[in-house]
Amino acid sequence: MCGIVAAVAQINVTPILLEGLKRLEYRGYDSCGVALHIDGKLQRSRSTSRVADLEAQVEKAHLSGFTGIAHTRWATHGAPATHNAHPHFSRDRIALVHNGIIENHDELRAELQAAGYHFESQTDTEVIAHLVNHMYNGDLFATVQQAVRRLTGAYAIAVFSVDEPHRVVAARQGSPLIVGVGQGQNFVASDAMALAGTTDQIIYLEEGDVVDLQLQRVWIVDAAGKAVEREVKTVHAYSSAVELGPYQHYMQKEIFEQPRAIADTLEGITGIMPELFGDGAFNVFKQIDSVLILACGTSYYAGLTAKYWIESIAKIPVNVEIASEYRYRDSVPNPNSLVVTISQSGETADTLAALKHARGQGMQHTLTICNVATSAMVRECALAYITRAGVEVGVASTKAFTTQLAALFLLTLALAQSKGRLSEEQEAAHLKAMRHLPAALQSVLALEPHIVAWAEAFARKENALFLGRGIHYPIALEGALKLKEITYIHAEAYAAGELKHGPLALVTEEMPVVTVAPNDALIEKLKSNMQEVRARGGQLYVFADADSHIKSSEGVHVIRLPENYGLLSPILHVVPLQLLSYHTALARGTDVDKPRNLAKSVTVE
Ligand code: G6P
Repeated sequence: MCGIVAAVAQINVTPILLEGLKRLEYRGYDSCGVALHIDGKLQRSRSTSRVADLEAQVEKAHLSGFTGIAHTRWATHGAPATHNAHPHFSRDRIALVHNGIIENHDELRAELQAAGYHFESQTDTEVIAHLVNHMYNGDLFATVQQAVRRLTGAYAIAVFSVDEPHRVVAARQGSPLIVGVGQGQNFVASDAMALAGTTDQIIYLEEGDVVDLQLQRVWIVDAAGKAVEREVKTVHAYSSAVELGPYQHYMQKEIFEQPRAIADTLEGITGIMPELFGDGAFNVFKQIDSVLILACGTSYYAGLTAKYWIESIAKIPVNVEIASEYRYRDSVPNPNSLVVTISQSGETADTLAALKHARGQGMQHTLTICNVATSAMVRECALAYITRAGVEVGVASTKAFTTQLAALFLLTLALAQSKGRLSEEQEAAHLKAMRHLPAALQSVLALEPHIVAWAEAFARKENALFLGRGIHYPIALEGALKLKEITYIHAEAYAAGELKHGPLALVTEEMPVVTVAPNDALIEKLKSNMQEVRARGGQLYVFADADSHIKSSEGVHVIRLPENYGLLSPILHVVPLQLLSYHTALARGTDVDKPRNLAKSVTVE
């Protein structure tokens, strides 16, 4: 999703801005641009290509300046085209970049057009640039505070004026924005990673904040215009975490990091305690009578998996809802429900809004499973468990998903314990199985060469079906999502029992059917579903367990996972599906880490 970097310094800020944009590339974008204050003028360069091309353009034009703003854009209003790329100018006086969506842009555009402003783009952003210009009174900080009051919707903006050379003003409402504090130089950015290597002194702006950034000054006012002090946190630069090392892609790196990520996420856990989720968790867990899980994308599938665990082990009813649906649905609130949000980034707009919606309906018991400790989601929830996947750069989530599952299994056990449904023997057995996860993952990763062979066949297909049953049905969903995200092969997942209610009509010799087939209580049922596929000529690609009796035969290809992992099996069975997608994408030559049209961090609804 869109990214912002802005700087005020006594040195040329162009390299800092471009490096920042590169660090934000992982969020997904389709155009980019930079604007600088140069010799009393605004100058910019924009591109619908990669940041590296923008860099070449900027070098060729010799653009350098002490004050500047830069942006990666993920198109919402207006096609990905140079004239829609940010920064947007207003009458060569104001330059502005924006993340988010302005809902009243039509109304403001009409008003500004009537005042004589000419629009060059189809964006909602250009409206803000002209609005700031229209209201400008020589003091950009005061002007922006006034201007943002006219905006409805979500925004993070950074703006500068040709009349005030050493000043950038930024504001946020509904979209994340941080300030980087330096020595005689200051910055704003969408996230701390953009400033890795530049400064580790970070202020997380709050909703409604407007910040005045000058060489020696960072001055923040809140939504009411009152000066506020916001804590400066030392955020360890992620630079080394975002190096590719020996890997070809971040997704590959992140798949192979999973043993470490799970070990880190479960580090130091010697016993099950509700307090692992925060102070007061025991009382909350004892009180609640149901769980409501809210999430999007891959995180939603982690939630679906958790439903099986929580209902079977803790015996607490669970609803899992797609955040973008829940936030607008008339539902029946239960104040005794534990609202659990799951989010890698902690900034997904729909999940945040769904959480607020639940709270607004009187549900005050909130908990998040999140990978970013400093995110809005963690700040908004009373209880939290931080997964330690580390920075996830690949748009297609991998290690974030498996660490979410590990945390959700822990939550299941803590809930069961609070309800008196976890004996000491059970606790010890589950802990032992969890400690074994990193080693078990390592042996699943060793299956890679077998999966590469399958990927060759998949690369020639345009459709694929994924089947799973029970707790592995969400894993089939996640497998299909991975495949479509990065290979652009149309993939659908079904609970295998649903096969004959529709998808069987699609099965021919051309249709690969990936089957997640652990040796669990449903295996015989699943085998019948596999027969239904074979009888129509479909090609089965089966991920079975070491102790299962499924054998390779004509049209039935089998890879066995080294062990049967019991309750934790979903965490292991998703890994070969990630590898299958990754290698199929390689064979098809797609942009694995930055799939077309997708974004890592979805900060608009
Ligand atoms: C985007 C990402 C997905 C992610 C989803 C939810 O679609 O590409 O990988 O699962 O957002 O994001 P979250 O950060 O809330 O888990």
